[in-house]
Amino acid sequence: MLDTERWTMINIVLFGPPGAGKGTQAQRMMEATGLPQVSTGDMLRAAVMAKTVVGLEAKKFMDAGALVPDEVIIDLIRERMKEDDAKEGVMFDGFPRTVPQAEALAEFVEVSIVLAIEVPDDRIVERICGRFSCGNCGAVYHDKFNPLPESGCECGSFSEKRRADDTEETVAARLQAYHEQTSPLAAFYREAGLFVSIDGDRDID
Ligand code: AP5
Repeated sequence: MLDTERWTMINIVLFGPPGAGKGTQAQRMMEATGLPQVSTGDMLRAAVMAKTVVGLEAKKFMDAGALVPDEVIIDLIRERMKEDDAKEGVMFDGFPRTVPQAEALAEFVEVSIVLAIEVPDDRIVERICGRFSCGNCGAVYHDKFNPLPESGCECGSFSEKRRADDTEETVAARLQAYHEQTSPLAAFYREAGLFVSIDGDRDID
C-alpha cells in the first residue's frame, strides 16, 4: 500500500545567516504553498513574552546573540510537529541551526529541500538594524528596503515593534554563531543532495 502521507508531505528548511530574509520569504512562500512557517525564533520570543521556564532560560542566550541549547530547541520542534497543521509538511525558518539539531530532526521528519539564502555579512547589519514588524500581525518591514505603506500594514494596523536583539553589538555575535555553528550544516545537507543555494543579495521580490 502506498504511504500517502509520505508522498504529500513537503518539509522545507529555510537556511541562512541572521537577517538574510528567511522570515520575509517564508511569509510569501506560506501564501504560495499553504505550508505553515515554523520559526524557532518566533517560538522562543513567544516563550520569553509568556515568561515560561523555556523562555526564561532562552532569554539569556538570545540577548547575547548566542544559540539556545540544542535540547531545548529539539523539544520545542518535537512538540510543534505533533500539531494538526504540520501534518502535510512545514517550512522551517531558523531551524535546524546545528548538526545535532539536523540529526535529531532526521529521526522524525524527512526534509525535502534546504533553501539557503546567501547574503554577505556586510549587508546583514543594515538589514537587521532597520527591521521592524507589525505589532498586530507580525509582518516584517524595513525602514529603507520595505517600509510600512502610508495606509499601514495589510492588517490595518500602524503599530511597530522592534526586536531586543536587533542591535549592532548582538548582530556581530549572531553572525559569529552562524559561521561557527550553523555554516557546517551546509555540508551536511549538501552531502544529502538537498541543498539549494539562492542569491539573497537582491531585491525582496
Ligand atoms: P531568529 O528569530 O531565527 O533570528 P535570525 O536567524 O537571526 O534571523 P532573523 O529573524 O534575524 O532574520 P531573517 O533571515 O528571518 O530575516 P528577515 O526576513 O526578518 O533567532 C533569534 C535568536 O533565537 C537566535 O539568535 C538564537 O538565540 C535563538 N534561536 C532561534 N532558533 C534557534 C535554533 N534553531 N537553535 C538555537 N537557537 C535558536 O529580514 C531582515 C530584514 O531585512 C527585514 O527588515 C526585511 O524587511 C529586510 N529584508 C529581507 N530581505 C531583503 C532583501 N532581499 N533586500 C533588502 N532587505 C531585505
